[in-house]
Amino acid sequence: MQVGVLGAGTMGSGIAQVAATAGHQVVLVDVNEQQLEKAKNALTKILFRLVEKGKLSDNEANDVLRRITFSSSLEDFAGSGIVIEAIVENLKIKNEVFRNLETITGADCILATNTSSLSVASIGAVLNNPGRIIGIHFFNPAPLMPLVEIIPAVQTTETTLQTAKQLIDSWRKVTVLTKDTPGFIVNRVARPFYGEALRIYEEGIADFATIDWAMTELGGFRMGPFTLMDYIGNDINYTVTETVFAAFYYDPRYRPSLTQKRHSEAGYLGRKSGRGYYNYAEGVTLPEPVKDEKLGKEILDRILVMLMNEAIDALFLNIASKKDIDLAMTKGVNYPKGLLQWAEEAGLEWVLEKLTALQDEYGEDRYRPSPLLKRMVRNGETQFKD
Ligand code: NAI
Repeated sequence: MQVGVLGAGTMGSGIAQVAATAGHQVVLVDVNEQQLEKAKNALTKILFRLVEKGKLSDNEANDVLRRITFSSSLEDFAGSGIVIEAIVENLKIKNEVFRNLETITGADCILATNTSSLSVASIGAVLNNPGRIIGIHFFNPAPLMPLVEIIPAVQTTETTLQTAKQLIDSWRKVTVLTKDTPGFIVNRVARPFYGEALRIYEEGIADFATIDWAMTELGGFRMGPFTLMDYIGNDINYTVTETVFAAFYYDPRYRPSLTQKRHSEAGYLGRKSGRGYYNYAEGVTLPEPVKDEKLGKEILDRILVMLMNEAIDALFLNIASKKDIDLAMTKGVNYPKGLLQWAEEAGLEWVLEKLTALQDEYGEDRYRPSPLLKRMVRNGETQFKD
């Protein structure tokens, strides 16, 4: 099957690499010729670095490159079995592009979007045959991150869903099925990892380094929230939070943080600008955490129960299955354990107790426990149903 990828930026070129490595002929289209050239050079460099590391043979790397056609014409998508769109996150532009794609591709070509924050339903709404639309959400960098969220919109047919899922599974990705709701699974469930960490800092309970230490050393997370936000970029991370917050009709659980907004406004974007929550300038030593186990445990537990509550609420609202919610967080953002499994092991009563204490203390809706959690504790249930 020929695979079309639209947009040769960070995501599009990564997706093209994945599809070509899986053996497909790939057509990678971008309006910007310079970007196409850049993508071609970058892909060549990446593939030959894999040869140096012994992960690909010289021939294999050349074959992968030969399978990718770089083009600035949408017409070259004719004959594709699927087109995956990864252009700017702008509904008007995406709609225009999907209208054109429908006139170029065959009637049974799947039209997929890699959008992170728009609804798949709104992107597919302009199609004459909207049953072909589906969300296929890769994580950055696409060749390295195993997770792909598959998002059928209300219009998506069962055939489109099954074909898309089987295809991405055959690319050796871990697929999870999620409803077309803001943030899908990962970008919804992960919000407290950043939001609650920022809140703890704002209350003066601990500094960035201590919160990061608690989450990595005591919680087993690969990176602390502030180190991770500095990697992602405060501008990008703030925008995701703001988008999810607005999309959930300003549910206080997703409220963005002024601290992050100010860092972003100041140009303290993180690693890419040389300074974020930490200063990455040469010769500057990073601050030492306060290694107080009791304080660290308090920080970890507070962020953890908020994350668990978010995962439980996603299950309550049938956003995805128990298995897929846990897979999404371990394979999409490298959490040390699935949050639902973690909550079962920690004890649902303990999770509810902690959340209720936070809600009593602050009187904020932000800390409200999910009805599913309350119901299960009331009924003495200890395991989530899939
Ligand atoms: P990017 O800015 O790196 O690349 C976008 C590319 O699209 C550019 O090369 C641009 O020239 C091209 N483009 C813009 N309008 C076009 C049009 N009308 N026709 C053809 N090409 C066009 O963006 P990035 O980061 O790769 O994101 C692309 C999509 O993937 C967005 O929808 C984003 O939300 C989503 N996404 C991004 C992730 C990330 O971490 N960067 C992760 C997962 C999804």
